[in-house]
Amino acid sequence: MDTVNESDLQMLFAESLANDNVFMVATTVDTGFEWQAVDECKKKLDKNVMIVKGRGKIFLNANWNQFKQVQEMRSIDNIFIVADVRKFKFSESDKEADLQLFKDSVLSSMKLEKTLNAWKRVTDFQGKVYPTIAEYSVAEKDRKLTNTNTTIATCRGRKRGQDPAEAKENEILRYRVTCERSGKHSFESADVARAIGGELQDKYCWLVDLSSYHLEILCKLTNEELVTYFRVTHVSKHRRNITFFGPTTLRATICYNLLQLANPNLGDIIIDPMCGGGSIPIEAALVYSQSYIIGGDNHPKAVDRTKSNIDASASNCKIDLVHWSVSQLPLKNSYIDIVVSDLPFGRRSGRMIDNRILYKQFLIELGRILKISTGRAVLLTYDKRSFNMALQTAGDLFWVTKMLGVNIGGLQAAVYVLKRTEVLYEQYKPKAGKHRKFKNS
Ligand SMILES: C[S@@+](CC[C@H](N)C(=O)[O-])C[C@H]1O[C@@H](n2cnc3c(N)ncnc32)[C@H](O)[C@@H]1O
Repeated sequence: MDTVNESDLQMLFAESLANDNVFMVATTVDTGFEWQAVDECKKKLDKNVMIVKGRGKIFLNANWNQFKQVQEMRSIDNIFIVADVRKFKFSESDKEADLQLFKDSVLSSMKLEKTLNAWKRVTDFQGKVYPTIAEYSVAEKDRKLTNTNTTIATCRGRKRGQDPAEAKENEILRYRVTCERSGKHSFESADVARAIGGELQDKYCWLVDLSSYHLEILCKLTNEELVTYFRVTHVSKHRRNITFFGPTTLRATICYNLLQLANPNLGDIIIDPMCGGGSIPIEAALVYSQSYIIGGDNHPKAVDRTKSNIDASASNCKIDLVHWSVSQLPLKNSYIDIVVSDLPFGRRSGRMIDNRILYKQFLIELGRILKISTGRAVLLTYDKRSFNMALQTAGDLFWVTKMLGVNIGGLQAAVYVLKRTEVLYEQYKPKAGKHRKFKNS
């Protein structure tokens, strides 16, 4: 996997500084799906948009009027505005002198106002970003008198800090600074967060609040380069479709990226034959409303969960839901355009020993139901061994057009993009030990 070239980020940032209406935006992406985010960005914003791809991130320069499109992207998790990118020359031995470099840059050279104003607008924060010292002193005194336990309790869970949009007009901005660091330094990450956070407080009179903050400032130090981010998303965008979670619920962002890999056309029939709680069919129904979407599972509880998730969805998701087994799908030959599925990994769902048979039966059945020559399948699995064995058996029925290594909850999984060959199912004969075919799409 490639790493971000530091000078690319500096160039992108310098370009954003040259125009008051341009902002450098960073978004997080599930590792392995960065190209899907780049593609979506070019499609939704502009094909000429400048993008730098990193591991699990993409950076872009967006015009102010393109910010809404960035927020509507479905392949990305979190959005940040990049407030600053700079390089330091550290002594590597004098901790105080090195930390002073951060303080000096906050005090005199970081121009944060443009990003602060953009953050306020985009998050709809109504409170005070530039309070006076008197306002700060009153707020700090009030805070000491109030019992903060209730606030902390309500801020636990999936949300980060407090939704800035909920702040009242007279509230002073509460913030926290966190630091992620890699490389050899004379200081720890917490020292950087303290040095930058303290200087920001002196400069802007904000209230430090580690749990119910409105603004999170993330400082990422890689060797000598510091990138300062302002978090925009209060809740990660992958939490959008599902109300009733199962043991292996897939993030909506991953579902979107898998569906994109299948390149659906208007009116395609899309199925997920092992849909669990329905995350892939629900995302498909929301994005491809002109398609016919079918979901199924052999576990009655999974089918019930999918039904509950469809019913709980605010949008009217049109999905046909079936209780079935992939070894014998009640579908005609050469009928389906696209199969997108998240196979049992053999860890939390299923057992690897069972996958050997299940994956083989599944691929052969896909060869039967997928349209000859045009049908596509995008399949996610951790159990690459069983999958490759199944591919050897079903080899004549598919071309492997792409394979991506992706990170799913810390597991190194793989996505296989298959295209149905022109071989008739009736003429296909399973061949043990046959090598799988690769073809460029
Ligand atoms: C990894 S989970 C899918 C999770 C799903 N993507 C979600 O977000 O909830 C795999 C699913 O395959 C289903 N499954 C296993 N064997 C099956 C079979 N023979 N036929 C149909 N579904 C099967 C399991 O019940 C499980 O729900």
